Amino acid sequence: MKERLEKKFEAIFGAGGDIRTYFAPGRVNLIGEHTDYNGGHVFPCALTIGTYAAARKNSDGRLRFYSMNFEQLGVIEANVRDLTYRKEDDWANYPKGVIWAAMQKGYEVPYGMDILFEGTIPNSSGLSSSASIEVLTGYVLKDLFNLSYDMIENAQIGQYAENQFIGVNCGIMDQFAIAMGKENHAIFLDTATLAYEYVPVRLDGCRIVIMNTNKKRGLGDSKYNERRAECEEALAELKTRVDIASLGDLNEEQFAAYEDAIASPIRRKRARHAVLENQRTIRAVGALQAGDIAEFGRLMTASHVSLRDDYEVTGKELDTLVSEALSQPGVLGARMTGAGFGGCAVSLVQEEEVENLISHVGEKYTKEIGYAPTFYVVAIGSGPKRL
Ligand code: GLA
Repeated sequence: MKERLEKKFEAIFGAGGDIRTYFAPGRVNLIGEHTDYNGGHVFPCALTIGTYAAARKNSDGRLRFYSMNFEQLGVIEANVRDLTYRKEDDWANYPKGVIWAAMQKGYEVPYGMDILFEGTIPNSSGLSSSASIEVLTGYVLKDLFNLSYDMIENAQIGQYAENQFIGVNCGIMDQFAIAMGKENHAIFLDTATLAYEYVPVRLDGCRIVIMNTNKKRGLGDSKYNERRAECEEALAELKTRVDIASLGDLNEEQFAAYEDAIASPIRRKRARHAVLENQRTIRAVGALQAGDIAEFGRLMTASHVSLRDDYEVTGKELDTLVSEALSQPGVLGARMTGAGFGGCAVSLVQEEEVENLISHVGEKYTKEIGYAPTFYVVAIGSGPKRL
């Protein structure tokens, strides 16, 4: 990989200088969905697929970006002193946004750089190809220019870029999961405090199978911001009755006692999801730590039902994948993962039933939806690194 990247880099940007190569993973969230901007818990892990980069600093103050996934767009250029979102810069707005965000946070980027990317995460799949390129860019900057931030701040810089430069009001989960990833572990993160714990993922003969709807997300981002606004409004209504900082501060009983403070039934459903999903995530991690994989699987499925009925972010494609998966033998649990509205679902499947799952769910989904899903039997990887 390293040699391939270096060769391509030299072909695009010319030979010479100190060319360095890097990798940052994608992520899958096992449980704890739409809780990260509600002060709740999440439980994601890094994958072994991700984004590669080759980079070299230059002395002309220009930024030159090239992606092997979008070769038709050629080299996209920007000035390090004048970074603004430009629609025509397409994917390069992500690394541009991160460089902008690092400078906003007071870090100095004294030179320009030439950087080439190659991603192995399918775009729009909900496996965080955008957070992966963000965290990777932050990591490259830190390494090339000796910046002093740690990996948590690297994640925060990525989130800041996404919020303020790209305009998606996401939480911290994706960037954190990628920046802090650890092989064979998932990250139990309290998004209210950023306290986290690495939990070994021992699945007792089960595999994590990701099922991609292959539905391209369209309205997803605006719906995402809409859900977030609904939760904020529900929180403001609850605050008239109870002293809380976020929905994550409530447990089921407390929510039941105060939910009538939320005037609209829709907002009540949204808030219920946020509260119950947080509690479910805490219980699921307990189950995994106790070796109760069956219970972990049941909680995953309960998470999907809540995202479908109360949060309403699934849609026909994800619901079809999940219900078909659950009707197969050896499937302990299944749920959508990420923002929803398309993208991927994640399932927990007994090793010997994985082939059966792939063929049966593939066939039924294709018949129902009109095009085929894709399956990935994944391993849990670690965070960003220099190759
Ligand atoms: C997207 C966002 C995350 C998180 C999930 C939903 O992946 O980027 O911050 O909110 O959706 O859990």
